Amino acid sequence: MNEKKEQLKKELKEAIANITEINALNEVKVEYLGKKGKITELSNTLREMSIEEKKEFGKLLNELKEESTTLIEEKRKQIEEKILNKKLESEKIDISLPAVTIPVGSPNILERMIEEVEEVFMSMGYDVVDGPEIEEDKYNFELLNIPKGHPARDAQDTFYIKEEEILLRSQTSPVQVRTMLSKKGEEAVRMICPGKTYRRDDDDATHSHQFMQIEGLLVDKEISLSDLKGTFDIIAKKLFGEDCKTRFRPSYYQFTEPSVETDVSCFKCKGEGCSLCKNTGWITVSGAGMVHPNVLRNCGYDPTIWTGFAFGFGAERLAMLKYGIQDVRTFYNTDLRELKAFDRKEMESND
Ligand code: DAH
Repeated sequence: MNEKKEQLKKELKEAIANITEINALNEVKVEYLGKKGKITELSNTLREMSIEEKKEFGKLLNELKEESTTLIEEKRKQIEEKILNKKLESEKIDISLPAVTIPVGSPNILERMIEEVEEVFMSMGYDVVDGPEIEEDKYNFELLNIPKGHPARDAQDTFYIKEEEILLRSQTSPVQVRTMLSKKGEEAVRMICPGKTYRRDDDDATHSHQFMQIEGLLVDKEISLSDLKGTFDIIAKKLFGEDCKTRFRPSYYQFTEPSVETDVSCFKCKGEGCSLCKNTGWITVSGAGMVHPNVLRNCGYDPTIWTGFAFGFGAERLAMLKYGIQDVRTFYNTDLRELKAFDRKEMESND
């Protein structure tokens, strides 16, 4: 038996020597150690042996089984290691290679301007409110003290959807009305409303049939024009720099009394006079005023108790001034090169 054992072991070693795949190794395993394998079948001869012989033979047979199993399992490990090494080699990552740069998008400059204004007002306790763009005549005009047929309507070239009833809002002021009505004359109001507005005038590069306004309203007790002046002063400094000066000029709006145009000192020439400010040293940035008693009353607020101020910025105008943009249409085209140029301008203005 000893001889046979050594011979089978030798045979097995030769059989597995050149194997490189697990499947082939499994086949050899079956050939030697499977149910009908060469080694397993040796135990059939046990039956005819004496007890002494059985002892001797059985011992050698077990050794043969164990040693063969070890040989095969060692081979299995070698093959697996080789496969793994091959895989690692082929999946090697060179971390010294330059990275692929992914182009990063950025918000439109107008959107950023609006967010900037929102942040300033929110820091002063104002809510940011939304309203419908398809509006009823009563919210866009009537409750704002602009009755049907009033000449003040002419200034806002309105797109009517249903004559004298439904329109595309020509200003964000109807959101003032809706907000006041929702509070039923019982609470103070402090809100801004940025949003799209529509007018038919599009006859030059600084006007478009669609533009963004940022409306603001504050209603409380004992609010005066000086509160408006103080608020405007803070906003202007935050948006255009600490050295920015402000002034009011008398104006007219149906929904405010008194009404003003609010100017900031030209941030390009610092008031000396240049093309941006048309040599006046001042730039107009919004209309504003004290909320007309009729508007307060129309919206459920008793004007003998409540007073307030309102204002309306043109968002494009703010961004055009701040970033030196000449043509209002620039905001609405999708030329990535121009959008990227805005990014650079903003970075410069933040320096
Ligand atoms: N709605 C005005 C316009 O479109 C702007 C404006 C002026 C809004 C004065 C106001 C305000 O709230 O008080 O021309």
